[in-house]
Amino acid sequence: MRKPIIAGNWKMNNTASEGAALVSALKPLVKDAKCDVVVCVPAIDIPAVKKALRGSKIKLGAQNVHYAEKGAFTGEISADMLKEYGVQYVIIGHSERRQYFGETDETVNKRTLAALAAGLTPIVCIGESLEEREGGLTEKVLSAQIEKDFAGIDDFSKIVVAYEPIWAIGTGRTATDEQANETIGFIRKRMKKVYAGKRVGKMRIQYGGSMNAKNCKGLMAQPEIDGGLIGGASLKAADFAAIVNFDK
Ligand code: PGA
Repeated sequence: MRKPIIAGNWKMNNTASEGAALVSALKPLVKDAKCDVVVCVPAIDIPAVKKALRGSKIKLGAQNVHYAEKGAFTGEISADMLKEYGVQYVIIGHSERRQYFGETDETVNKRTLAALAAGLTPIVCIGESLEEREGGLTEKVLSAQIEKDFAGIDDFSKIVVAYEPIWAIGTGRTATDEQANETIGFIRKRMKKVYAGKRVGKMRIQYGGSMNAKNCKGLMAQPEIDGGLIGGASLKAADFAAIVNFDK
């Protein structure tokens, strides 16, 4: 059995003090959660949020990490810098980074390997655009991402994959339960084939894209879906808590 994992992706929202207030409100609401709970916060919020998380099982995550150990990469943050603050998870290859910041399958792969080497758990995002889905290219696009983004990983139990159809992110248009389940099932099957013998069966795959308090139960009831990566609905404690407590 894979333990469900619900992660919030705050994106570029919440100052440090707002973030601390949000997790302080969240803590009591999710204290009996049976799943893993993660908040992926803006890098500069990390110290304040870490302090506010004291005494809770909520894990701290970042939204990006550079692949080099250190050096002349102005504006970037290394895995060691995150580790020193107790960060355990890091989102890699979010479609917004691919779209706006030149992230490629190659850099996603390098960041993922660097995160793993530092002992961070990468949450690697993959997914197709609306055009690709409508053109019947979903499996082809995902297969290419699978081959490139995860090359060189030895133990897939140490990573999380987030399947995020780009057309469902921030649009209010969620994949249906069946669509999400079927596509995640495809990803798992394909990865088992490409990375045979590397513990893919233990790897958790989340769904992400307009997941909220209303639709989370149906999505989480699907056998292939091991969790959610939550954007908009992670910005309010009650909304995020309702998703974390999907099983109550
Ligand atoms: P959303 O974002 O829940 O606001 O659609 C999800 C994500 O981008 O991770």
